[in-house]
Amino acid sequence: MSIDYNQRIPNNVDLAGDRALQRALEHWQPRFLDWWKELGPSDFAAADVYLRTAVGVDAAGWASYGRVRMPDYRWGIFLADAASDRHIGFGDHLGEPVWQQVPGEYRSPLRRLIVTQGDTEPASVEQQRMLGHCAPSLYDLRNLFQINVEEGRHLWAMVYLLHAYFGRDGREEAEELLERHSGDPDKPRILGTFNEPITDWLSLFMFTYFTDRDGKYQLKSLAESAFDPLARTTQFMLTEEAHHMFVGETGLARVLKRTLEVMTAQGSDDPARVRGAGAIDLPTFQRYLNFWFSSSLDLFGSEVSSNAASSFASGLKGRPDEAQYTDHRCVDASYELAMPDAGGTRVEHVLMRNAMNEVLRTAYVRDCELGLKRWNRLLERSGFDVRVTLPSARFNRAIGVWSAVRCDPSGAQLSAKEFERRKDEWLPSASDRAFVHGLMQRVVVPGRMAAWIAPPERGINNLAIDYEYVHLA
Ligand SMILES: [Fe+2]
Ligand SMILES: [Fe+2]
Repeated sequence: MSIDYNQRIPNNVDLAGDRALQRALEHWQPRFLDWWKELGPSDFAAADVYLRTAVGVDAAGWASYGRVRMPDYRWGIFLADAASDRHIGFGDHLGEPVWQQVPGEYRSPLRRLIVTQGDTEPASVEQQRMLGHCAPSLYDLRNLFQINVEEGRHLWAMVYLLHAYFGRDGREEAEELLERHSGDPDKPRILGTFNEPITDWLSLFMFTYFTDRDGKYQLKSLAESAFDPLARTTQFMLTEEAHHMFVGETGLARVLKRTLEVMTAQGSDDPARVRGAGAIDLPTFQRYLNFWFSSSLDLFGSEVSSNAASSFASGLKGRPDEAQYTDHRCVDASYELAMPDAGGTRVEHVLMRNAMNEVLRTAYVRDCELGLKRWNRLLERSGFDVRVTLPSARFNRAIGVWSAVRCDPSGAQLSAKEFERRKDEWLPSASDRAFVHGLMQRVVVPGRMAAWIAPPERGINNLAIDYEYVHLA
């Protein structure tokens, strides 16, 4: 079904055919807009932004581009087309037809999964709300706003599922998604990373590279769900999510490119001299990377998890690209896990179903490495002998078995005291943050870039880099 834009809520789910649901969502809509005005991108309500809007859910020409003021963005409900005879691909119900309604016994864990995913979407908009004031270019400003409106739409996607399939409880959860706020001491967002403030663009690019990629892996595993409306919703969210990670990967590449230009011009990688020239030195880049990578790893949850096991067993949440595996039930399979043990490690064999978080996390880490390979090619070509690396997954963890011990970025264990003493070598210090903040000056001349970042290789939708992507009021 194509997307109907004549409706108050654009959709391809025949909302007009279900008046009660339509009314409930139309009741939620003004609350969403109030939230957007209060906690969305600060002070840019009147700006004309060159944004893409979904016009179909198939790969061929799924979006149109045009100038929109963000509060007028057409947030809607878009599901990927149904496959006619989809069957459950994993767990105890393997091979049975997928569900079009929520089975009673899975109602509460399924609602929990949807709420947890839904909570991250508005959280990220809240985290990023001040960044418009210090954007390094109009191109970047537009990308930020594109991400923000799409995260708003992802909230709509989850709210639709709550309203359509979870009755009164679902409607209450939808209200609460607007009541919790990132960093709020009384009503914080559910997951830790989404309460970390993002007030500089280096953090934004790290977030969109590492944390949006966690989102990709969560969505990919929900796209396998036996609950078909959830699977179809997340499939389309993934299409939009790709742009967010593109912003992260290319943003970080541009930061490195600029840093390398400065290093080459000076013939030195001395951090103080790189900073002196207004670029971000590589050790600072690495510390930000260490922070956001380790924080994002926590989002996958504990290595051994009975929740993860039951989500898999019941068919609620699979593995990303489940079809790549041969054993889709994982009843007897086991997984080898290295656990901290008296300063060293010991290997434990746990049931594969209990290790599903770790399976996801491992796939995620491999995906993260791809960007690092590309960035390191830039470093290599520059002739300097420095590289960026992913820290060990044992480093700086707050959740899971490695949260009980302290490790350096190579994964070697050390005492809490030693970690405290050396942590400024590995994680952004107060003075790193002050330095990075100092660079964040707003640039609004079309085509011009802040001194700490190189221009992109091309513009959006084949437009020139100096196109006026945002017309400020
Ligand atoms: Fe999202
Ligand atoms: Fe995203």
